[in-house]
Amino acid sequence: MSDLWFDAEWLSLRRRADHQARDTLLNEEANYWLAQRGRANIVDLGAGHGNNAQYLIPWLGQAQHWRLVDHDSKLLAQAEKVLAPMAEEGHHIQSLVCDLNALNLEDIHQQWPIDLVTASALFDLASLSWLEALVEQVVEIQAAALWVLNVNGHWKIEGHKHPLDETIRQAFNAHQRRHKGLGDGSALGPMAVHEAMRLFKSLGYQVQTRTSVWTLLAGSAYTKAMGFRLINGWHQAACDMLPDQSDAFDVWFVDRQTALNQGQIGLEVGHTDLYAEPLAD
Ligand SMILES: C[S@@+](CC[C@H](N)C(=O)[O-])C[C@H]1O[C@@H](n2cnc3c(N)ncnc32)[C@H](O)[C@@H]1O
Repeated sequence: MSDLWFDAEWLSLRRRADHQARDTLLNEEANYWLAQRGRANIVDLGAGHGNNAQYLIPWLGQAQHWRLVDHDSKLLAQAEKVLAPMAEEGHHIQSLVCDLNALNLEDIHQQWPIDLVTASALFDLASLSWLEALVEQVVEIQAAALWVLNVNGHWKIEGHKHPLDETIRQAFNAHQRRHKGLGDGSALGPMAVHEAMRLFKSLGYQVQTRTSVWTLLAGSAYTKAMGFRLINGWHQAACDMLPDQSDAFDVWFVDRQTALNQGQIGLEVGHTDLYAEPLAD
């Protein structure tokens, strides 16, 4: 699976950890913003198969109109199925197959005024130029932004330590800075949320951030399933970045998977959620 195309199985697996991690205070801020506007037209960027909308719809009181934007039509078709019960409750959900490199929020806004631009687990893929252009578009239309589950580079293996854990973490974070296809140039990876905060503030928005950590306790079946995927990804990224150390990383991989399966280690993966809105007059 490339960095641009995500498998539905992985997105479904992480849904529980995502939803448990999210910061509820920022939901309240978004809810208050929408209540003041008396309307809830929401764009979800990189919506995948609907994790973000599935989580947020029950939090945002009024009837909502969602545009789910992604370049993967199969994921969007799944999103429509996942969200069908919410559509039956009166929320309006529409998919838009679109490459985010070609997104023009102002065009959408002309026909359908946007109140909130949201996204989950997306911005680590973004380059600085793409992010700058997006923040400018959001500010231009004076919408609020709720951008959540932005990886912040902190992860930790709880319990039995291994001397290579830190080397692997740093190699993974460096791997995240490779070009991922959202804009030109290298991806921001764990720096994305800091850049987004800086950009919004420089354009007169007020910004709040909160951490949202996946906490995967040692020994549970869920931790084993998530941990298998995470350790695999960290190992592959480290081998890509430092191929001359791949023999040692292979030993690390076996050690960590064994410890995971024996319930000796838990995992924490850090994210930062961001909410931004125009400063009140
Ligand atoms: C990590 S997934 C997150 C999906 C969803 N927001 C969630 O929280 O489960 C990133 C999403 O961004 C989409 N994506 C990546 N690059 C894209 C691009 N250039 N244009 C449109 N969508 C893109 C992928 O198809 C995928 O659905």
